[in-house]
Amino acid sequence: MTRPKILVTRAIFPETVERLARHFEVEFNPDDTVWAGEALARHLQGKQGALTTGTERIDAALLSACPQLKICANMAVGYNNFDVAAMAACGVVGTNTPDVLTETTADFGFALLMAAARRLTESEHFLRRGQWQKWGCQLFAGAEVHGSTLGIIGMGRIGQAIARRGARGFGMTVLYHNRSRLDAAAEAACSARYANKEELLRSADHVLLALPYSAASHHAIGAAELAQMKPTATLTNIARGGIVDDAALARALRERRIAAAALDVFEGEPAVHPDLLALSNVVLTPHIASATITTRRAMAELAADNLIAFFEQGRAITPVTAVPAPHTPNDKETS
Ligand code: DGY
Repeated sequence: MTRPKILVTRAIFPETVERLARHFEVEFNPDDTVWAGEALARHLQGKQGALTTGTERIDAALLSACPQLKICANMAVGYNNFDVAAMAACGVVGTNTPDVLTETTADFGFALLMAAARRLTESEHFLRRGQWQKWGCQLFAGAEVHGSTLGIIGMGRIGQAIARRGARGFGMTVLYHNRSRLDAAAEAACSARYANKEELLRSADHVLLALPYSAASHHAIGAAELAQMKPTATLTNIARGGIVDDAALARALRERRIAAAALDVFEGEPAVHPDLLALSNVVLTPHIASATITTRRAMAELAADNLIAFFEQGRAITPVTAVPAPHTPNDKETS
């Protein structure tokens, strides 16, 4: 029987590719080129499945060029690279990788928050430039983390994991804002209190963003929201570029309307707004919040599990798009 054809769009773990090759005919991308538009469509020709990452845009134009495609298994919990409406209209299943990255991403969110608050990268750069002449009473004096107020916008799995770290590890008062309020048990489990967005922005010493990107969350933090924050506050974004208006943030940081920021994600990444690059009071990292070997391996394996389950059991494990009628195992192999 013909095996389904699969494209692995980026260089991932060889053992995951080898595992996929035991089930599918696999084309992979050892050079790790980011394929977009026509190049992606070319590699997807004749493929029934793809293991994608957040760098591949799956939209109506691509889907119409790749009519045999049945599933895109994203190696990411976020899936704003999917046009879910277009995928559903074409009967293409999308999957993501929830849970396996929650704690690792929360660890990194906390690391970034602390780096911004305690001026970690700024002071290190000062030292490396040979500018450290003497101990100073207020040398790189930053903001307190323990006992302060943490405001989390986006209270999914990752937001809740950050809340637990803040409340239990650092004795922080935790406020959260979310589209829907958590039930009382979930709020108690992470010692967090619901607040409206304005109250959160006005009260928090450290604001952390962990919400998904969508048209509704585009520029959820812009000039108006930054103006509501305390001048001593920090802002950390581990969610997605585009949730923060990066130009407005750069202005607020330059004018010290907030104290500091830490960003792992950027509008139009891998490009970074030049005004951010010129500032010392912002910590900048290249979209690595989930990047430990263990977690990235687990993400790759879950994406592979989704492909295998879809083609061999007829149902993906962690679908994010409206799922078409159950797939009969191997029914697309000859189409
Ligand atoms: C995710 O899983 O969404 C991370 O941002 C990695 O892309």
